[in-house]
Amino acid sequence: MPSALIFPQGFLWGISTSGYQFEGQNSHSQWTDWEEMGRIKTGERSGLACNWWEHAEKDFDLARQLGVNALRLSVEWSRVEPEPGKWNEEAIHRYRSMLMALRQRGILPMVCLHHFTHPRWFEEQGAFLAPNADALFERFSRYVVSSLGDLCDHWVTFNEPNVYCALAYVFGEHPPGKRGEIRSVVQALTRIAHAHQRAYEVIHSLQPTAQVGWTTNYLVFQPADENSRLDRMIAALHHNCFNMSFARLLSHGSLPFPLNLWRSRNGKVQSCCDFVGVNVYSRVHVKFHLGLASQLFGHLYIPDHVVQGDPGVQTPFGEIHPQAITAAVESLHQPGKPIYILENGVPDRDDRIRPWLIKNAVREVHQLIQRGFDVRGYFHWSLLDNFEWSEGWNLRFGLVSLDPETQERQLRPSAQLYSAIARANGLVEEEEESTLSSIHAES
Ligand code: BGC
Repeated sequence: MPSALIFPQGFLWGISTSGYQFEGQNSHSQWTDWEEMGRIKTGERSGLACNWWEHAEKDFDLARQLGVNALRLSVEWSRVEPEPGKWNEEAIHRYRSMLMALRQRGILPMVCLHHFTHPRWFEEQGAFLAPNADALFERFSRYVVSSLGDLCDHWVTFNEPNVYCALAYVFGEHPPGKRGEIRSVVQALTRIAHAHQRAYEVIHSLQPTAQVGWTTNYLVFQPADENSRLDRMIAALHHNCFNMSFARLLSHGSLPFPLNLWRSRNGKVQSCCDFVGVNVYSRVHVKFHLGLASQLFGHLYIPDHVVQGDPGVQTPFGEIHPQAITAAVESLHQPGKPIYILENGVPDRDDRIRPWLIKNAVREVHQLIQRGFDVRGYFHWSLLDNFEWSEGWNLRFGLVSLDPETQERQLRPSAQLYSAIARANGLVEEEEESTLSSIHAES
């Protein structure tokens, strides 16, 4: 029997992207230097990336053909302000033309102001550890919103402050490549919270009806043994520190234990948002381990038998767990605020898992709406294979495959599936549900 899960009218079937990963030819960012230092594990470079700086419109055509009605992109701060206080008008004009192109195609643009990258000069002065970072971010936000505000009214100030801080100051995977610097995490998170607040106020002063939010990465921390109090306690500790810290900083002005043991010099902040943004990918299992104090006494691992995306160069990507969407919304929703799933996807060159993920993600979101959660959009990461940070081109997240050398694009079966869902405003299924066991059989 065919079954149908139909979504409310106006639901956003979106795509998420970011400037540095898609535009190509970036030369003033801290990531340009990071690439030059040989910090990409595959030795590759972003190069032309998806060549959006020249030809984004071709892919916007593709997005329109697929029936997508929203697209999130980010403005690359280092292009717009390559030197402190010097604005590159050509760059901002290019962004204007991109936003116009989206609107002409009936695609709602959502613009993010900070997606991991910023100008080299900003990094050199300490990025968000510098005392004036929030003022500089406010100045940049004012310029961008004054220049683009007539074309966009959905703004994301920061993409994943939790991942940005963890990869930059704890795991050394993103610039400046520091390890184990919890104090820096606390300083940077609080400075970013101030920067968010200042940008939030500036955007509203320029555009009173704008929708302004930020988006967090949400990871399910699964106790290895549900019956073990210690496993449950340590999983909860990781959940609070990673998933909830920034939201808590904005709502309560303080970080959860044990991050609150490090004092921030940045002063108290309390701020808000007009919507809740969540990026959700995976689940990790947590076992209490007395010897791992530096990892909050948790051994984090991915069991062999679970559904996994393609592996990273040195580490597995993680368990693909569509139910993480439900967990994220249950944890992060706020009274009266719409919710957008702003990223969800899987590195999957051969498209063996992605169709299963998409269908199950759609089911999760539909069920959340049935339960009364105000979820207004699902944005898949991503339209095309793109430059995956320190993994280079190793991990392929596209509905459409991209050969970065030839720039050739090819639709994966997932693209057809996502297109059918977007066009039907829901999931209409003729065949048997795709189950976990069929994934295992295929992989
Ligand atoms: C980031 C994206 C990244 C994606 C896949 C998210 O954490 O916002 O930039 O490509 O995950 O790893």
